[in-house]
Amino acid sequence: MKVTSEQILNALSHVDDPDLHKDLVTLNMIRNIVIEGNLVKFDVELTTPACPMKDMIRNACVNAVHHFVSKDLEVDPNMTSRVTTTRDTESMLPGVKNIVAVASGKGGVGKSTVTVNLALALAQTGARVGVLDADIYGPSIPTMFGLKGSHPEMKDNKILPLERKGIKVLSIGFLVDEKQAIVWRGPMASSAIRQMVSDVAWGELDYLLIDLPPGTGDIHLTITQSIPLTGAVMVTTPQNVALADCRKAMGMFSNQHINIPVLGVLENMSYFSPPELPDKKYYLFGQGGGMVLASEYGVPLLGMIPISETVMRNTDSGTMESPEVEIAAIYRAVAGELARHIAIVNMKRKSPNNVPSSTE
Ligand SMILES: Nc1ncnc2c1ncn2[C@@H]1O[C@H](COP(=O)(O)OP(=O)(O)OP(=O)(O)O)[C@@H](O)[C@H]1O
Ligand SMILES: [Mg+2]
Repeated sequence: MKVTSEQILNALSHVDDPDLHKDLVTLNMIRNIVIEGNLVKFDVELTTPACPMKDMIRNACVNAVHHFVSKDLEVDPNMTSRVTTTRDTESMLPGVKNIVAVASGKGGVGKSTVTVNLALALAQTGARVGVLDADIYGPSIPTMFGLKGSHPEMKDNKILPLERKGIKVLSIGFLVDEKQAIVWRGPMASSAIRQMVSDVAWGELDYLLIDLPPGTGDIHLTITQSIPLTGAVMVTTPQNVALADCRKAMGMFSNQHINIPVLGVLENMSYFSPPELPDKKYYLFGQGGGMVLASEYGVPLLGMIPISETVMRNTDSGTMESPEVEIAAIYRAVAGELARHIAIVNMKRKSPNNVPSSTE
């Protein structure tokens, strides 16, 4: 039996992307079909290298070819990715596909810790990741990345971000003395933020994560109004006070003038599992708050991150070590969820610019 590319495409047109609710052929995700005797190879271009459903989609492709063409074929899909974007490539940061703000209402809920660990988890999937520390008055990114005291170089009148573990990083802490920025008034802080976006050679990135200061101040207004954000992630702890503050911050993003999609809620410090009782969960700050908030706003709960001594130690000391196995797996899952929801938001916007370059 001579198998043709058309038969393979027809079979794969029965496989839907579970998030985008369209088939892989319509979504233009199938590339480079090669048929050599009994062997069928093709690339499946997912919307992110962090796709949590990679294995499921791969199996569905194999099953579809077996079912619609022939059981005797050896099917070998190669899972690749092209991170999608709806950003206007004419605008600022043309090489950056997605800009995501990490926000919270209350301070100290773990935004910076989450930003660093999500950046690590995304970078480990092969995505190109940058982190911008927008906390002008209390930058913690230099410490968490183990880059305190480092200074970036300039090239062609642009600041070159520093790099750690393949992640590009920039913070006001690299540019001016800590005590200096603390006394800046709002307009100066806002102008510093704008410069850290437009005067920096961020280059080609799939995801630029912006670690925001807590609350809803001048810096937030600047970022939401002058930086084209793909969306925002809301970090909260389960306590009621944290949830109440988080509602205010969510209101800021979903405000009709700003209208930035909230990609999801991430509950941090959700529970504690003692090392000697890993299956036991103690909900020290209450239970279910993140879920309540997510359902109230009709956005997904991206995950629940436990209280972890190693997370605290790694980020506070800037070792950039991956946290212990279980926590690393949780961050990977959250990063996958985030990447999925970015792809969904991009799909909903259906921009003609949705044709970015390859990352794998
Ligand atoms: N899951 C966690 N388990 C244990 N400690 C954590 C966890 N997440 C954050 N922390 C610790 O809590 C403290 C506050 O975290 P972080 O600085 O990330 O919060 P933040 O929301 O960025 O604060 P700010 O509002 O001041 O910017 C840090 O010492 C951090 O190490
Ligand atoms: Mg912070």
